Amino acid sequence: MSIRRLNTRSDRIMPELIPVLSREEIKERIAGVAVQISKDYENRELVLIGVLKGAFVFLSDLIRHLTIPVQLDFVSISSYGSGTASTGEIRLTKDLGIAISGKDVLIVEDIIDSGQTLQWLSDYLRTLDPKSVRTCTFIDKRERREENIPVDYACHTVEEGFLVGYGLDYAEDYRYLPGIYHLKL
Ligand code: IMP
Ligand code: MG
Repeated sequence: MSIRRLNTRSDRIMPELIPVLSREEIKERIAGVAVQISKDYENRELVLIGVLKGAFVFLSDLIRHLTIPVQLDFVSISSYGSGTASTGEIRLTKDLGIAISGKDVLIVEDIIDSGQTLQWLSDYLRTLDPKSVRTCTFIDKRERREENIPVDYACHTVEEGFLVGYGLDYAEDYRYLPGIYHLKL
């Protein structure tokens, strides 16, 4: 796939997209994490909570690799504007639709960067009296990590850079790409 073809029509200055993970590599990583989660949560009541919009692609693949029954819900959080770094202000724009009291909760994120979003969400979920709250992210990015919050499951770890594709966006573009790319502006 040529770099040029992947850019959106509206881009004037063509950003460069450097391949990081292919469709096949993504599938392998998810299968590995799914085996671990299926083992860890056997005979438990697991609720997966996806963080919209970025996590929807990962979560839809993840549930189909799990071998245990799960419940599923989404929350939507606004934390980012349209740039590449967090604005620091976090708001819940879509709340849970199902009860999580007494259940094991696994937050499913597309990418964890500073950890602010995750810290805020796990603090909020804990007020709803779940049995446990843990975290699964497709990408664990260490560059700006501020919060000392454990990432329990990660498919891929990177030190830095802005990544797009497989649900991850830059100003709402690139979510549709089947692979993960490093966006060089
Ligand atoms: P945090 O609160 O700094 O951890 O930011 C987490 C959120 O920022 C993620 O759920 C993404 O929506 C967004 N984000 C952080 N880094 C990237 C990136 O490299 N590509 C796309 N979105 C990102
Ligand atoms: Mg997100």
